[in-house]
Amino acid sequence: MYNRNPQSKQEKNSEELANKYMPAGNLGNMSSKFEQGFIVSHGKGSKIYDLSGNEYIDYLIGSGPMILGHANQAVVEAVQTQMEKGSTFFLNNESIIELAEEVCSAVPCAEMIRFTTSGTDATFQCLRVARAYTGKDKILKFEGGYHGSHDYALMSQVPTLNKEFPQPQPDSAGIPKVIAETVLIAPYNDIETTESIIKKEKDNIAAVIVEPVQRIISPAEGFLKQLRELTLKYDIPLIFDEVVTGFRLSYGGAQEYFGVVPDLASFGKIVGGGFPLAAVAGKKEIMEHYDGALHQGNSIPQTGTLNGNPIAAVAGLATLKQLKDPAAYSKLHETGIKLKKALADSMQQYEIEAQITGDNTVFDIVFTNKEIKNYRDLATGNSALLSKFNNLMLNQGILKPGNKLYMSLALTDEDIDRTINAFSYSASKLRD
Ligand SMILES: Cc1ncc(COP(=O)(O)O)c(C=O)c1O
Repeated sequence: MYNRNPQSKQEKNSEELANKYMPAGNLGNMSSKFEQGFIVSHGKGSKIYDLSGNEYIDYLIGSGPMILGHANQAVVEAVQTQMEKGSTFFLNNESIIELAEEVCSAVPCAEMIRFTTSGTDATFQCLRVARAYTGKDKILKFEGGYHGSHDYALMSQVPTLNKEFPQPQPDSAGIPKVIAETVLIAPYNDIETTESIIKKEKDNIAAVIVEPVQRIISPAEGFLKQLRELTLKYDIPLIFDEVVTGFRLSYGGAQEYFGVVPDLASFGKIVGGGFPLAAVAGKKEIMEHYDGALHQGNSIPQTGTLNGNPIAAVAGLATLKQLKDPAAYSKLHETGIKLKKALADSMQQYEIEAQITGDNTVFDIVFTNKEIKNYRDLATGNSALLSKFNNLMLNQGILKPGNKLYMSLALTDEDIDRTINAFSYSASKLRD
């Protein structure tokens, strides 16, 4: 049985400083101190370590980018080599152009690409370029969908009210009221309601944005295809937010995996190999609005100090190179299938009502008896039980994040066996 070390003096000191200098004592990424759990010292392969000397098998993997595991040798070497040659230039450079070609060859919708530094900015850019292209203002997003932390994205991501569609509920203070007038909300996996909203607003909608796998909710059979047909019928650009799914579900992302090609897509996480890099990619006709010479009076300036950063580019290229190995995606999916089954079996063994939901490469457990098709189904999950389960896992040396487990290629058979045992033990203790 794993014995977690008590908090060391060093970790305690560090936590005190975090509480003193950072609001809520954190980076904004974890909603509570409990969720944060510990202070990271370092990571290597499938594990991360805290300042008290504890080791954890990591299913957070930096919220998704570290699909090869931490400090992957080839990524480290690529970054070290680039560091010697300069860190950033604000100019076209060989590595970022190579990455542009790689993404455009891999991703079905990507005829052209622009780089930025966060998934938040990538989805923001997708919406802006769709507005420039259509000359329209409104966007339609799905309830519960997350597209980063800009004003248009933080609408009905975690609504507390069952507002009538398409009314949005802002998720944050500080968003001008007028923004809510430009965002329409539809229920994920419900094509009829989505069509009825689009029909009424078709002359005002600049884009429909969707996470192909919405958080941990997989698309219902045919939903993405129907959404594609619907947006084509009403001549509205369709955006896939592939910040999570890009290079994860398959090398060409969710659009390749599900065989549905959008007009635009946002990328982040994996594409930067653990460095701040993200991208907006899509059809030439739309992307050319970034070219002021071609679209005078209707173009988008997209200046950014770190756009196309060469260190991020080489880290991304070194990561993609390893993902191109045909064995990579079968391993990711097989690992996920095994862990999902073990998680379901553990709950069944102890007669705990739960759903295992999401893709093989990114999924979670929801403590509910309801099949999960949309945000409102997800909201029926017992969050106290989930926190208890996550905490039980943490105390056995497994970092099972608050809202989803990410698979990585660094996981060993031993890690997987340990995780399966921890699932079973944690399930046995859930009723205590
Ligand atoms: C689907 C999706 N879109 C956008 C973002 C925002 O990306 P970033 O955190 O890099 O701003 C995230 C972040 O988790 C995401 O999951």
